[in-house]
Amino acid sequence: MAALPNISDIREMQAWSDHARRQGKRIVMVPTMGFLHEGHLSLVRQGRKEGDCLVVSIFANPAQFAPSEDFGSYPRDLERDVRLLMEERVDLLFNPTAEDMYPRGYQTYVDVEQVSRPLCGAHRAGHFRGVATVVLKLFHIVRPHAAMFGLKDYQQVQVIRRMSEDLNLDVEIVACPTVRASDGLAMSSRNHYLEPAEREAARCLQSALGKAEALVRGGETLAERIREAVVEEISRHPPARLEYADLCDPKELQPVEEVKGPTLLALCAWVGKARLIDNRVLAGKEP
Ligand code: PAJ
Repeated sequence: MAALPNISDIREMQAWSDHARRQGKRIVMVPTMGFLHEGHLSLVRQGRKEGDCLVVSIFANPAQFAPSEDFGSYPRDLERDVRLLMEERVDLLFNPTAEDMYPRGYQTYVDVEQVSRPLCGAHRAGHFRGVATVVLKLFHIVRPHAAMFGLKDYQQVQVIRRMSEDLNLDVEIVACPTVRASDGLAMSSRNHYLEPAEREAARCLQSALGKAEALVRGGETLAERIREAVVEEISRHPPARLEYADLCDPKELQPVEEVKGPTLLALCAWVGKARLIDNRVLAGKEP
């Protein structure tokens, strides 16, 4: 099998994309932090259908991790990632260095205000500022026509959509459904941290979402009651420990007291060293 074309240099990447654009090609990109799994690969497969040139970026972005978080231990396996991307017949891998992305003296950041504040934003100071900044940089470097994101990170999709609209970015943001393992756990690079007993406990995120949905189907509309059922389900599965369970409107992510129409239930729980998130749109379809 031929090697996977790979660019690390920022200017070289821009030149590659300019060339593809001049040839009338539609560029699709899938931004990732590597340690790829079926969730990432589903975006790659969907991306293939969205255009002619498929670029995947692998960059573990230090700006979206707080000093206390797992940047240093975030799992990495570039060799395996390259193999998987070759099997998917990706056109190009872009993997810049942190020194090139954030050279000495770097000081420009993007803050998407309201939609970054609740849910994960309330618990990970600066996280979405780091995400929005790197995604905007990647868009300027890879110059895609479309970019693929997963709804597992629902708030991330909304932050990027908001940024794209507010800053008039000419990039189509395509959101893809959450891919789950056979036990229902949403795939995540951080699942790698889970010991077998923790993995068993981690299933409570999915079961809690299911309980909430059953309540809504049964006619429950009070957000507080639904939240209580989620809290109770997670508490029955130590060592899982709830960080938040919030019901909010699916676009602006502001809290709701009543489920009147499509409502996002977003969950975050710690299981051992892994911080896991999951979500479901209750009483409606995902946008
Ligand atoms: P990462 O966690 O590597 O995820 C890359 C993309 O894969 C994101 O759009 C994420 O939502 C998607 N993804 C992850 N698990 C998924 C699953 N189980 N089902 C569907 N999609 C899934 O998210 C990031 O990296 C970074 O924040 C990034 C956007 C690359 C910016 O640094």
